[in-house]
Amino acid sequence: MEYVRLNNVEDEISAVTLGTWAIGGSHWGQYDEANAILAIEAALDNGINAIDTAPVYGDGHAEELVGKAIRGRRDKVFLATKCGLNIYARTYERDLSPSYIETDLNGSLKRLGTDYIDLYQCHWPDPKTPIEETMAALARFRQQGKIRHIGVSNFSASELREALRTVPLFSLQPHYSLLERSCEKDLLPVCVGNGMNVIPYGCLGAGMLTGKYKECPKFTKGDARSFFYRFFKPKYWLGVRRLIDAVEEIAMQRNVRPGAVALSWLLARPGVKSVIVGARSALQATENIADIPTVLSEDDLQILEELSRKVYNS
Ligand SMILES: NC(=O)c1ccc[n+]([C@@H]2O[C@H](COP(=O)([O-])OP(=O)(O)OC[C@H]3O[C@@H](n4cnc5c(N)ncnc54)[C@H](OP(=O)(O)O)[C@@H]3O)[C@@H](O)[C@H]2O)c1
Repeated sequence: MEYVRLNNVEDEISAVTLGTWAIGGSHWGQYDEANAILAIEAALDNGINAIDTAPVYGDGHAEELVGKAIRGRRDKVFLATKCGLNIYARTYERDLSPSYIETDLNGSLKRLGTDYIDLYQCHWPDPKTPIEETMAALARFRQQGKIRHIGVSNFSASELREALRTVPLFSLQPHYSLLERSCEKDLLPVCVGNGMNVIPYGCLGAGMLTGKYKECPKFTKGDARSFFYRFFKPKYWLGVRRLIDAVEEIAMQRNVRPGAVALSWLLARPGVKSVIVGARSALQATENIADIPTVLSEDDLQILEELSRKVYNS
């Protein structure tokens, strides 16, 4: 496992961070809790030392499982969670008001069985709450020692700039992979210019970049993959499949898994420190750290560049 020094701190985290959305048990097809627990344990036992979770993943369930798994080794784990989607009213409405963040933070600390969060991230921007009020509240919690670093996710470049006027931001969690590069144009330059750590999600294209789908998959209505990730739409399948064919070809030449090619490509992008990768079983968790990073040639990079740019325009 490769470890990466984060900007502005002494912390080193694994190049792969474990993602826990699917582990929450809702919104991701059939769920097997025993396997979910084994996935977290296998990740930690095999060198992953960073976990990303959120209250909204299974209405607190993912945080509870993570809390159990890190018991006795809390100090060895860089723990990231999020705030600002109302799980208590079950509306999942965005709420980054200071009072809701306080409720959310106390809930996370309890479920995770810890008295501090390493990285506390606004999950989505909340247009109803002025950003400076949100950031002032987070700065207060940091001063109290309840959180160590402040990050944001899914913010636009202008929201990021506005937040940066109030408080230095530690990190951005954008959707970023070979299948989704829209953050490259406006967002990443702001992050790089401000010394922020970029720790992206959806890096395996929700499984697509492992090459597991030979045909365009269909998910049930409640399954997040049916609405959250645009590359699952049948109209993009041709471009997606062409890209995956190339990823598989490069992987075969290097004797690694397609996922290792996709994740290594991403880890080499400017600002990217660690890639968040979801796993639903011990096997997936261990497969996803093998051969990271794989060195890609100039030819590989050129092919991936060309085909990833064409996914939505072919
Ligand atoms: N900030 C945000 O708004 C936001 C949004 C989304 C995600 N996230 C975070 O980022 C994490 C990662 O994103 P993600 O889980 O959506 O997508 P992802 O990491 O690209 O894909 C993870 C999924 O791919 C499949 N998979 C993983 N390893 C595999 C392997 N070796 N072989 C075959 N299939 C494999 C699994 O689903 P199946 O087994 O069902 O195929 C797994 O749940 C989340 O868990 C969460 O922590 C944050």
